[in-house]
Amino acid sequence: MLIDNVNNNKTSFLLVTGGAGFIGSNFITYMLSRYNKYHIVNLDKLTYAGNLENLKELENKSNYTFVKGDICDKELVNLLFNKYEIDYVVNFAAESHVDRSILNPEIFADTNIIGTLNLLNAAKKSWEGKEGFRESCKFIQISTDEVYGSLGDTGFFTELTSLDPHSPYSASKASADLLVKSYYDTYRMPINITRCSNNYGPYQFPEKLIPLMVNNALNKKKLPVYGNGSNIRDWLYVEDHCSAIDLVLHNGRIGEVYNIGGNNERQNIQIVKTVINFINSNVDNSIDEELVTYVEDRKGHDKRYGIDASKIKKDLGWEPKTTFEEGIKKTINWYLENKEWLCNITSGGYKDYYEKMYGNGLGV
Ligand code: NAD
Ligand code: DAU
Repeated sequence: MLIDNVNNNKTSFLLVTGGAGFIGSNFITYMLSRYNKYHIVNLDKLTYAGNLENLKELENKSNYTFVKGDICDKELVNLLFNKYEIDYVVNFAAESHVDRSILNPEIFADTNIIGTLNLLNAAKKSWEGKEGFRESCKFIQISTDEVYGSLGDTGFFTELTSLDPHSPYSASKASADLLVKSYYDTYRMPINITRCSNNYGPYQFPEKLIPLMVNNALNKKKLPVYGNGSNIRDWLYVEDHCSAIDLVLHNGRIGEVYNIGGNNERQNIQIVKTVINFINSNVDNSIDEELVTYVEDRKGHDKRYGIDASKIKKDLGWEPKTTFEEGIKKTINWYLENKEWLCNITSGGYKDYYEKMYGNGLGV
Protein backbone atom coordinates (compact mmCIF):
# COMPACT_ATOMS: atom_id res chain seq x y z
CA MET A 1 0.00 0.00 0.00
CA LEU A 2 1.40 3.42 -0.95
CA ILE A 3 0.77 6.14 1.58
CA ASP A 4 0.75 9.74 0.32
CA ASN A 5 -0.10 11.84 3.29
CA VAL A 6 3.22 11.99 5.08
CA ASN A 7 4.09 15.47 6.34
CA ASN A 8 1.13 17.17 4.60
CA ASN A 9 2.03 16.02 1.12
CA LYS A 10 5.38 17.82 1.16
CA THR A 11 8.39 15.71 0.21
CA SER A 12 10.38 14.88 3.33
CA PHE A 13 14.09 14.11 3.16
CA LEU A 14 15.09 11.07 5.13
CA LEU A 15 18.79 10.42 5.69
CA VAL A 16 19.34 6.68 6.11
CA THR A 17 22.89 5.83 7.13
CA GLY A 18 24.28 2.35 6.55
CA GLY A 19 21.53 1.78 3.99
CA ALA A 20 23.65 -0.61 1.90
CA GLY A 21 23.88 -3.08 4.77
CA PHE A 22 21.46 -5.83 5.74
CA ILE A 23 18.74 -4.03 7.72
CA GLY A 24 19.27 -0.62 6.12
CA SER A 25 18.72 -1.94 2.58
CA ASN A 26 15.60 -3.82 3.65
CA PHE A 27 14.36 -0.64 5.35
CA ILE A 28 14.91 1.59 2.31
CA THR A 29 13.10 -0.89 0.07
CA TYR A 30 10.27 -1.15 2.61
CA MET A 31 9.86 2.65 2.91
CA LEU A 32 10.00 3.39 -0.81
CA SER A 33 7.45 0.68 -1.56
CA ARG A 34 5.11 2.13 1.04
CA TYR A 35 5.47 5.91 0.78
CA ASN A 36 5.59 8.38 -2.12
CA LYS A 37 6.48 11.39 -0.06
CA TYR A 38 9.95 10.50 1.08
CA HIS A 39 13.18 11.20 -0.69
CA ILE A 40 15.75 8.86 0.83
CA VAL A 41 19.41 9.84 0.94
CA ASN A 42 21.46 6.74 1.71
CA LEU A 43 24.89 7.56 3.20
CA ASP A 44 27.07 4.47 3.35
CA LYS A 45 30.83 3.96 3.50
CA LEU A 46 30.54 0.61 1.71
CA THR A 47 32.65 -1.33 4.17
CA TYR A 48 32.90 -5.11 3.66
CA ALA A 49 29.27 -5.26 4.90
CA GLY A 50 27.85 -2.66 2.53
CA ASN A 51 26.65 -3.89 -0.84
CA LEU A 52 24.93 -1.84 -3.53
CA GLU A 53 23.60 -5.03 -5.09
CA ASN A 54 21.06 -5.01 -2.24
CA LEU A 55 19.50 -1.88 -3.74
CA LYS A 56 19.90 -2.52 -7.45
CA GLU A 57 16.19 -2.16 -8.12
CA LEU A 58 16.07 1.33 -6.61
CA GLU A 59 19.11 2.76 -8.41
CA ASN A 60 17.13 4.80 -10.91
CA LYS A 61 14.30 5.97 -8.71
CA SER A 62 14.01 9.76 -8.61
CA ASN A 63 13.30 9.77 -4.86
CA TYR A 64 16.44 7.81 -3.93
CA THR A 65 20.03 9.10 -3.77
CA PHE A 66 23.09 7.11 -2.81
CA VAL A 67 26.13 8.88 -1.34
CA LYS A 68 29.32 6.94 -0.64
CA GLY A 69 30.85 8.34 2.52
CA ASP A 70 31.66 8.01 6.18
CA ILE A 71 29.37 9.17 9.00
CA CYS A 72 32.58 10.28 10.76
CA ASP A 73 33.28 12.80 7.95
CA LYS A 74 31.97 16.06 9.47
CA GLU A 75 32.28 18.11 6.31
CA LEU A 76 30.37 15.61 4.20
CA VAL A 77 27.61 15.08 6.78
CA ASN A 78 27.07 18.84 7.22
CA LEU A 79 27.04 19.25 3.45
CA LEU A 80 24.31 16.62 3.10
CA PHE A 81 22.14 18.29 5.74
CA ASN A 82 22.47 21.61 3.86
CA LYS A 83 22.07 20.25 0.38
CA TYR A 84 19.03 18.08 1.06
CA GLU A 85 17.49 19.91 4.03
CA ILE A 86 17.26 16.59 5.82
CA ASP A 87 14.11 16.19 7.96
CA TYR A 88 14.69 12.79 9.52
CA VAL A 89 17.67 10.56 10.26
CA VAL A 90 17.57 6.79 10.74
CA ASN A 91 21.06 5.77 11.83
CA PHE A 92 21.83 2.16 10.92
CA ALA A 93 25.49 2.77 10.05
CA ALA A 94 27.66 0.71 12.33
CA GLU A 95 30.25 -1.95 12.62
CA SER A 96 27.79 -4.67 13.58
CA HIS A 97 29.58 -7.97 14.17
CA VAL A 98 30.51 -9.01 17.73
CA ASP A 99 33.34 -11.37 16.67
CA ARG A 100 35.01 -8.63 14.64
CA SER A 101 34.76 -6.28 17.63
CA ILE A 102 36.69 -8.82 19.69
CA LEU A 103 39.42 -8.94 17.02
CA ASN A 104 39.56 -5.18 16.35
CA PRO A 105 37.63 -2.89 18.71
CA GLU A 106 38.96 0.50 17.49
CA ILE A 107 36.83 0.82 14.37
CA PHE A 108 33.75 0.07 16.52
CA ALA A 109 34.49 3.10 18.69
CA ASP A 110 35.13 5.28 15.62
CA THR A 111 32.02 4.46 13.64
CA ASN A 112 29.53 3.53 16.33
CA ILE A 113 30.36 6.26 18.85
CA ILE A 114 32.14 9.12 17.05
CA GLY A 115 30.10 8.65 13.88
CA THR A 116 26.83 8.85 15.84
CA LEU A 117 28.05 11.96 17.68
CA ASN A 118 28.93 13.56 14.38
CA LEU A 119 25.43 12.87 12.99
CA LEU A 120 23.82 14.26 16.15
CA ASN A 121 25.85 17.46 15.86
CA ALA A 122 25.01 17.95 12.20
CA ALA A 123 21.30 17.31 12.87
CA LYS A 124 21.28 19.71 15.82
CA LYS A 125 22.98 22.43 13.80
CA SER A 126 20.52 22.02 10.96
CA TRP A 127 17.30 21.60 12.98
CA GLU A 128 17.72 23.98 15.93
CA GLY A 129 16.56 27.60 15.73
CA LYS A 130 16.00 30.38 18.24
CA GLU A 131 12.66 28.85 19.23
CA GLY A 132 14.08 25.35 19.65
CA PHE A 133 13.88 22.44 17.22
CA ARG A 134 11.71 22.76 14.14
CA GLU A 135 8.49 20.83 14.03
CA SER A 136 9.18 18.08 11.52
CA CYS A 137 12.46 16.50 12.44
CA LYS A 138 13.57 13.40 14.30
CA PHE A 139 16.70 11.33 14.88
CA ILE A 140 16.18 7.57 15.21
CA GLN A 141 19.07 5.57 16.62
CA ILE A 142 18.96 1.89 15.67
CA SER A 143 20.34 0.10 18.68
CA THR A 144 20.38 -3.43 19.97
CA ASP A 145 19.22 -5.61 22.85
CA GLU A 146 22.91 -6.42 23.43
CA VAL A 147 23.30 -3.12 25.33
CA TYR A 148 21.36 -4.74 28.20
CA GLY A 149 23.92 -7.52 28.64
CA SER A 150 22.88 -11.11 29.27
CA LEU A 151 19.89 -12.84 30.88
CA GLY A 152 19.75 -16.03 32.91
CA ASP A 153 17.10 -18.68 32.28
CA THR A 154 14.19 -16.37 33.10
CA GLY A 155 13.09 -12.75 32.66
CA PHE A 156 13.19 -10.30 29.76
CA PHE A 157 14.86 -7.00 28.88
CA THR A 158 12.52 -4.02 29.25
CA GLU A 159 13.35 -0.44 28.29
CA LEU A 160 14.13 0.16 31.98
CA THR A 161 16.71 -2.63 32.25
CA SER A 162 20.14 -1.16 33.10
CA LEU A 163 22.73 -1.05 30.36
CA ASP A 164 25.40 -3.70 30.94
CA PRO A 165 27.15 -4.35 27.63
CA HIS A 166 29.87 -7.01 27.50
CA SER A 167 31.51 -6.93 24.08
CA PRO A 168 33.36 -4.01 22.48
CA TYR A 169 30.50 -3.95 19.92
CA SER A 170 27.72 -3.68 22.50
CA ALA A 171 29.75 -1.23 24.60
CA SER A 172 30.09 1.03 21.55
CA LYS A 173 26.34 0.78 20.83
CA ALA A 174 25.50 1.55 24.49
CA SER A 175 27.82 4.58 24.35
CA ALA A 176 26.03 5.81 21.24
CA ASP A 177 22.64 5.31 22.94
CA LEU A 178 23.78 7.45 25.88
CA LEU A 179 24.95 10.20 23.53
CA VAL A 180 21.61 10.16 21.69
CA LYS A 181 19.71 10.26 25.00
CA SER A 182 21.91 13.13 26.18
CA TYR A 183 20.89 15.21 23.14
CA TYR A 184 17.28 14.81 24.24
CA ASP A 185 17.97 15.41 27.94
CA THR A 186 20.21 18.41 27.31
CA TYR A 187 18.89 20.10 24.16
CA ARG A 188 15.42 18.51 23.81
CA MET A 189 16.43 17.27 20.38
CA PRO A 190 13.64 14.99 19.03
CA ILE A 191 15.00 11.45 19.21
CA ASN A 192 13.96 7.84 19.58
CA ILE A 193 16.14 4.86 20.32
CA THR A 194 15.06 1.38 19.18
CA ARG A 195 16.60 -1.78 20.61
CA CYS A 196 15.87 -4.94 18.71
CA SER A 197 16.83 -8.58 18.86
CA ASN A 198 18.67 -10.69 16.25
CA ASN A 199 17.38 -9.94 12.76
CA TYR A 200 17.31 -12.50 9.98
CA GLY A 201 16.13 -12.40 6.38
CA PRO A 202 17.39 -11.54 2.87
CA TYR A 203 20.71 -9.73 2.29
CA GLN A 204 22.38 -10.59 5.61
CA PHE A 205 26.15 -10.88 5.39
CA PRO A 206 27.21 -14.53 5.86
CA GLU A 207 29.31 -13.91 8.96
CA LYS A 208 26.13 -13.91 11.09
CA LEU A 209 24.76 -17.23 12.38
CA ILE A 210 21.92 -17.99 9.95
CA PRO A 211 23.47 -17.00 6.58
CA LEU A 212 26.84 -18.45 7.66
CA MET A 213 25.20 -21.81 8.35
CA VAL A 214 23.23 -21.70 5.09
CA ASN A 215 26.32 -20.83 3.05
CA ASN A 216 28.48 -23.46 4.75
CA ALA A 217 25.84 -26.18 4.46
CA LEU A 218 25.29 -25.44 0.77
CA ASN A 219 29.05 -25.77 0.27
CA LYS A 220 29.29 -28.87 2.50
CA LYS A 221 31.57 -27.05 4.92
CA LYS A 222 31.59 -27.66 8.66
CA LEU A 223 29.10 -25.70 10.76
CA PRO A 224 30.96 -23.99 13.63
CA VAL A 225 28.88 -23.84 16.81
CA TYR A 226 30.37 -21.82 19.67
CA GLY A 227 30.65 -23.56 23.06
CA ASN A 228 27.92 -26.17 23.50
CA GLY A 229 25.34 -24.38 21.34
CA SER A 230 22.97 -23.67 24.23
CA ASN A 231 23.15 -19.86 24.05
CA ILE A 232 19.79 -18.31 23.28
CA ARG A 233 18.87 -15.47 20.92
CA ASP A 234 15.47 -14.01 20.01
CA TRP A 235 14.92 -13.93 16.24
CA LEU A 236 13.14 -11.06 14.48
CA TYR A 237 12.27 -11.23 10.78
CA VAL A 238 13.80 -8.14 9.17
CA GLU A 239 10.56 -6.95 7.53
CA ASP A 240 8.85 -6.93 10.93
CA HIS A 241 11.74 -4.84 12.22
CA CYS A 242 11.26 -2.37 9.33
CA SER A 243 7.56 -2.01 10.11
CA ALA A 244 8.40 -1.25 13.75
CA ILE A 245 10.91 1.47 12.75
CA ASP A 246 8.31 2.95 10.39
CA LEU A 247 5.87 3.25 13.33
CA VAL A 248 8.49 4.71 15.65
CA LEU A 249 9.47 7.27 13.00
CA HIS A 250 5.88 8.44 12.56
CA ASN A 251 4.30 7.89 15.95
CA GLY A 252 7.06 7.27 18.51
CA ARG A 253 6.86 9.61 21.48
CA ILE A 254 9.83 11.99 21.49
CA GLY A 255 12.65 10.95 23.79
CA GLU A 256 11.41 7.36 24.20
CA VAL A 257 13.21 4.06 23.87
CA TYR A 258 11.35 1.15 22.22
CA ASN A 259 12.31 -2.51 22.46
CA ILE A 260 11.52 -4.59 19.36
CA GLY A 261 11.51 -8.39 19.57
CA GLY A 262 10.36 -11.40 17.60
CA ASN A 263 8.93 -13.64 20.37
CA ASN A 264 11.12 -16.36 18.90
CA GLU A 265 13.74 -17.50 21.38
CA ARG A 266 15.85 -20.40 20.19
CA GLN A 267 19.10 -22.09 21.29
CA ASN A 268 21.80 -21.67 18.64
CA ILE A 269 22.01 -25.42 18.09
CA GLN A 270 18.25 -25.51 17.32
CA ILE A 271 18.80 -22.86 14.63
CA VAL A 272 21.66 -24.82 13.12
CA LYS A 273 19.63 -28.05 13.07
CA THR A 274 16.68 -26.22 11.47
CA VAL A 275 18.96 -25.02 8.66
CA ILE A 276 20.39 -28.52 8.18
CA ASN A 277 16.94 -30.13 8.08
CA PHE A 278 15.64 -27.61 5.55
CA ILE A 279 18.60 -28.06 3.24
CA ASN A 280 18.51 -31.83 3.69
CA SER A 281 14.82 -31.98 2.71
CA ASN A 282 14.87 -29.39 -0.05
CA VAL A 283 18.33 -29.29 -1.61
CA ASP A 284 20.73 -32.12 -0.83
CA ASN A 285 19.93 -35.12 1.37
CA SER A 286 23.62 -35.78 2.01
CA ILE A 287 23.76 -32.68 4.26
CA ASP A 288 23.26 -33.79 7.85
CA GLU A 289 24.21 -33.11 11.46
CA GLU A 290 27.65 -34.64 10.90
CA LEU A 291 28.63 -31.18 9.66
CA VAL A 292 28.11 -29.61 13.11
CA THR A 293 31.44 -28.80 14.74
CA TYR A 294 31.61 -27.49 18.28
CA VAL A 295 34.38 -24.86 18.41
CA GLU A 296 35.92 -22.68 21.12
CA ASP A 297 33.34 -20.42 22.74
CA ARG A 298 33.13 -16.71 21.88
CA LYS A 299 34.95 -14.64 24.54
CA GLY A 300 32.43 -13.03 26.93
CA HIS A 301 29.61 -14.88 25.13
CA ASP A 302 26.23 -13.58 26.36
CA LYS A 303 24.07 -16.51 27.47
CA ARG A 304 20.58 -15.35 26.60
CA TYR A 305 18.76 -12.38 25.08
CA GLY A 306 15.00 -12.06 25.49
CA ILE A 307 12.94 -8.96 24.68
CA ASP A 308 9.85 -7.64 26.39
CA ALA A 309 8.22 -5.70 23.53
CA SER A 310 5.01 -4.83 25.39
CA LYS A 311 5.69 -1.08 25.31
CA ILE A 312 5.75 -0.80 21.51
CA LYS A 313 2.66 -3.02 21.35
CA LYS A 314 0.75 -0.90 23.86
CA ASP A 315 1.89 2.54 22.63
CA LEU A 316 2.16 2.02 18.87
CA GLY A 317 0.18 -1.18 18.22
CA TRP A 318 3.18 -3.05 16.78
CA GLU A 319 3.62 -6.81 16.93
CA PRO A 320 5.83 -9.10 14.85
CA LYS A 321 3.81 -10.82 12.12
CA THR A 322 6.25 -13.50 10.98
CA THR A 323 6.54 -16.79 12.83
CA PHE A 324 10.01 -18.30 12.97
CA GLU A 325 8.85 -21.25 10.85
CA GLU A 326 7.66 -18.91 8.06
CA GLY A 327 10.62 -16.52 8.37
CA ILE A 328 13.33 -19.18 8.24
CA LYS A 329 11.69 -20.80 5.20
CA LYS A 330 11.53 -17.46 3.36
CA THR A 331 15.10 -16.64 4.37
CA ILE A 332 16.70 -19.92 3.26
CA ASN A 333 14.70 -19.88 0.03
CA TRP A 334 15.96 -16.35 -0.65
CA TYR A 335 19.58 -17.51 -0.30
CA LEU A 336 18.86 -20.47 -2.56
CA GLU A 337 17.40 -18.17 -5.19
CA ASN A 338 20.26 -15.68 -4.85
CA LYS A 339 23.33 -17.90 -4.99
CA GLU A 340 25.12 -15.34 -7.15
CA TRP A 341 24.68 -12.67 -4.44
CA LEU A 342 26.07 -15.12 -1.90
CA CYS A 343 28.95 -16.05 -4.16
CA ASN A 344 29.85 -12.40 -4.92
CA ILE A 345 29.76 -11.40 -1.28
CA THR A 346 31.91 -14.32 -0.13
CA SER A 347 34.66 -13.54 -2.61
CA GLY A 348 37.26 -10.87 -1.75
CA GLY A 349 38.20 -10.42 1.92
CA TYR A 350 35.66 -12.95 3.25
CA LYS A 351 38.04 -15.89 3.02
CA ASP A 352 40.72 -14.07 5.08
CA TYR A 353 38.23 -13.24 7.82
CA TYR A 354 36.86 -16.78 7.83
CA GLU A 355 40.34 -18.28 8.14
CA LYS A 356 41.23 -15.91 10.97
CA MET A 357 38.02 -16.77 12.82
CA TYR A 358 37.70 -20.48 12.27
CA GLY A 359 41.10 -21.64 10.96
CA ASN A 360 41.60 -23.95 8.03
CA GLY A 361 40.13 -26.97 9.77
CA LEU A 362 36.60 -25.90 8.87
CA GLY A 363 37.03 -26.30 5.15
CA VAL A 364 37.06 -22.75 3.81
P1 NAD B 1 25.50 -4.42 8.53
O1 NAD B 1 26.85 -4.70 9.06
O2 NAD B 1 24.87 -5.40 7.59
O3 NAD B 1 25.51 -3.02 7.76
C1 NAD B 1 26.15 -1.89 8.27
C2 NAD B 1 26.22 -0.86 7.15
O4 NAD B 1 26.84 0.33 7.68
C3 NAD B 1 27.05 -1.30 5.96
O5 NAD B 1 26.39 -1.01 4.75
C4 NAD B 1 28.34 -0.49 6.09
O6 NAD B 1 28.95 -0.21 4.84
C5 NAD B 1 27.81 0.77 6.75
N1 NAD B 1 28.85 1.50 7.50
C6 NAD B 1 29.75 0.97 8.38
N2 NAD B 1 30.55 1.95 8.84
C7 NAD B 1 30.13 3.11 8.28
C8 NAD B 1 30.55 4.45 8.37
N3 NAD B 1 31.58 4.82 9.16
N4 NAD B 1 29.89 5.39 7.65
C9 NAD B 1 28.86 5.05 6.83
N5 NAD B 1 28.45 3.79 6.69
C10 NAD B 1 29.06 2.82 7.42
O7 NAD B 1 24.58 -4.15 9.79
P2 NAD B 1 23.07 -4.54 10.06
O8 NAD B 1 23.01 -5.92 10.54
O9 NAD B 1 22.27 -4.11 8.90
O10 NAD B 1 22.77 -3.59 11.30
C11 NAD B 1 22.31 -2.26 11.11
C12 NAD B 1 22.16 -1.59 12.46
O11 NAD B 1 21.26 -2.33 13.27
C13 NAD B 1 23.45 -1.50 13.23
O12 NAD B 1 23.47 -0.24 13.87
C14 NAD B 1 23.36 -2.61 14.25
O13 NAD B 1 24.05 -2.28 15.42
C15 NAD B 1 21.87 -2.64 14.50
N6 NAD B 1 21.34 -3.97 14.90
C16 NAD B 1 21.52 -5.05 14.09
C17 NAD B 1 20.95 -6.27 14.46
C18 NAD B 1 21.11 -7.51 13.61
O14 NAD B 1 20.65 -8.57 14.04
N7 NAD B 1 21.69 -7.44 12.43
C19 NAD B 1 20.23 -6.37 15.65
C20 NAD B 1 20.13 -5.24 16.47
C21 NAD B 1 20.65 -4.04 16.06
O1 DAU C 1 21.02 -9.18 19.47
C1 DAU C 1 21.21 -8.24 18.45
C2 DAU C 1 22.56 -8.45 17.82
O2 DAU C 1 22.47 -9.64 17.05
C3 DAU C 1 23.01 -7.29 16.95
O3 DAU C 1 23.18 -6.14 17.74
C4 DAU C 1 24.31 -7.61 16.22
O4 DAU C 1 24.63 -6.57 15.31
C5 DAU C 1 24.13 -8.90 15.46
O5 DAU C 1 25.34 -9.28 14.86
C6 DAU C 1 23.64 -10.01 16.38
O6 DAU C 1 24.67 -10.36 17.34
P1 DAU C 1 24.93 -11.88 17.78
O7 DAU C 1 26.29 -11.98 18.30
O8 DAU C 1 23.82 -12.38 18.62
O9 DAU C 1 24.78 -12.58 16.33
P2 DAU C 1 25.66 -13.70 15.59
O10 DAU C 1 24.91 -14.07 14.36
O11 DAU C 1 27.07 -13.31 15.46
O12 DAU C 1 25.59 -14.91 16.61
C7 DAU C 1 24.35 -15.45 17.04
C8 DAU C 1 24.64 -16.55 18.03
O13 DAU C 1 25.25 -17.66 17.35
C9 DAU C 1 25.62 -16.14 19.12
O14 DAU C 1 25.25 -16.77 20.34
C10 DAU C 1 26.96 -16.71 18.65
C11 DAU C 1 26.56 -17.95 17.87
N1 DAU C 1 27.42 -18.29 16.72
C12 DAU C 1 27.67 -17.33 15.80
C13 DAU C 1 28.46 -17.61 14.70
C14 DAU C 1 28.76 -16.53 13.69
C15 DAU C 1 27.90 -19.59 16.58
O15 DAU C 1 27.65 -20.47 17.40
N2 DAU C 1 28.68 -19.86 15.48
C16 DAU C 1 28.99 -18.92 14.55
O16 DAU C 1 29.73 -19.24 13.58
